[in-house]
Amino acid sequence: MSAVPTIRQLLVRPRLCSTALNSSSSPFLSYAPSLHFCPSSLRVLSSSSSPTLTQEEADGPVGKGSSLIDVNPPRGTRDFPPDDMRLRSWLFQNFREVSRILSFEEVDFPVLESEALFIRKAGEEITQQLYNFEDKGGRRVVLRPEITPSLARLVIKQGKSASLPLKWFTIGQCWRYERMTRGRRREHYQWNMDIFGVSKVRAEAELIQAVVLLFERLGIKSSDVGIRVSSRKVLQAVLQMYAIPENLFTQVCVIVDKLGKITREEMEKELVSLGVSTKAVNGIIEVLSLKSLSKLEEVLGSEGEAVSELKKLFSLAESYGYADWICFDASVVRGLAYYTGIVFEAFDRQGKLRAICGGGRYDRLLSTFGTDDIPACGFGFGDAVIVELLKEKALLPDLSHKVDDIVFPLDEVLDGTASSIASSLRKKGRSVDLVEDKRLKWVFKHAERIGASRLILVGNSEWERGAVRVKNLSTREEFEVKIDELD
Ligand code: HAM
Repeated sequence: MSAVPTIRQLLVRPRLCSTALNSSSSPFLSYAPSLHFCPSSLRVLSSSSSPTLTQEEADGPVGKGSSLIDVNPPRGTRDFPPDDMRLRSWLFQNFREVSRILSFEEVDFPVLESEALFIRKAGEEITQQLYNFEDKGGRRVVLRPEITPSLARLVIKQGKSASLPLKWFTIGQCWRYERMTRGRRREHYQWNMDIFGVSKVRAEAELIQAVVLLFERLGIKSSDVGIRVSSRKVLQAVLQMYAIPENLFTQVCVIVDKLGKITREEMEKELVSLGVSTKAVNGIIEVLSLKSLSKLEEVLGSEGEAVSELKKLFSLAESYGYADWICFDASVVRGLAYYTGIVFEAFDRQGKLRAICGGGRYDRLLSTFGTDDIPACGFGFGDAVIVELLKEKALLPDLSHKVDDIVFPLDEVLDGTASSIASSLRKKGRSVDLVEDKRLKWVFKHAERIGASRLILVGNSEWERGAVRVKNLSTREEFEVKIDELD
């Protein structure tokens, strides 16, 4: 080991810095205090009612005469500071990984869509929550509340060039003017997986496996979360039993889905005003309370598609190995107009949160856009409820900011050398934070905060020998390394 000072010795010495020496009588002061993050100035900006705010302070950063802006994002929306952004990226990475494992391809769409894509007449909540407006060219546009219509649009656009089945996934932001509750906000990100061109229950079975794989990757167990499954064909069969016209089907589904949010009397009133008899309403409610497939079979018989498809799905679930995650629940109808067959949603078994994800089959959406139908099935999985659940179960991962190396020149004249060392390490794929204008004590604290594994000090005497001083921050070992041997 050379006789040059150790890092411990350096800690009590100032970094040689010509500007600092010129501008300050204290050799321990960093030379660029004006570059430091200053929380107090942020407080001045964010606290419009601060009694100590002088006119000069108030005018300072925002310019004379400007009023202080509200630093909060619009109600119901979120900023993503680094910690939250790391969590979001981690979640999306898991979404992507599961999609890859299931052999899905990623697609994307504009958040701004044409309003016509989302105009549906069934009275769904989602269409009443649209962020819609006219753009400067007089076109009616929306911030999309969901992604399924955009997927359908792209499938139609691709036309015959698309080779079916299409297995697509996407992750994107959706906007709904919602009443906010836990996990429900005015913007959220949704992971969607959709299959176009498969009419068999295989599609649903694949999608549910994706959801289960995601839960398992996140550490969630089937004792924490279940997936309720039913089919809109159950309701369709009940409507047939009471000779309710086919054209009322979608509206009936949307109304029935509100049960739980509105009272039974309110629901009954809505159905009766649609032309459904009280006797039929009672029949619908009775069937929707069923929680076992064998009971459903007793009521509807075993011949219909509702029962046979559900039975097939439950038998596939056994083969996939996720049968303990799913349960039949006839009350699952889902609130979107376009579903036609099997529908499902994931819920926390403690019943504290809203649906974690939801999806189903929508074989007739394309014809509502004026083209031939293609069987389709998919789900949307939000980013907000799942994070609430992970918090609840103490399953949030440790995602602190991590870098490999900190490179710190001890003298301003060595800034160029430090740059080239940082650059060559980065080219090798190491993450490097190049730090300047700080005291060594700060650098050590910083290294701890960002979990750096090495501190590389570029000092004059080592540099003269073509070397740097390296401290391994986990073992606390310290040694001199030739620059061309650094990796
Ligand atoms: P959805 O049930 O309206 O379905 O939404 C799917 C998921 O998005 C919900 O289960 C929830 O995780 C999340 N979500 C919805 N609204 C909010 C909100 N305001 N705040 C936070 N999270 C929310 C659909 O959107 C369908 N397009 C899904 C689909 C895809 N069906 C077939 N393919």
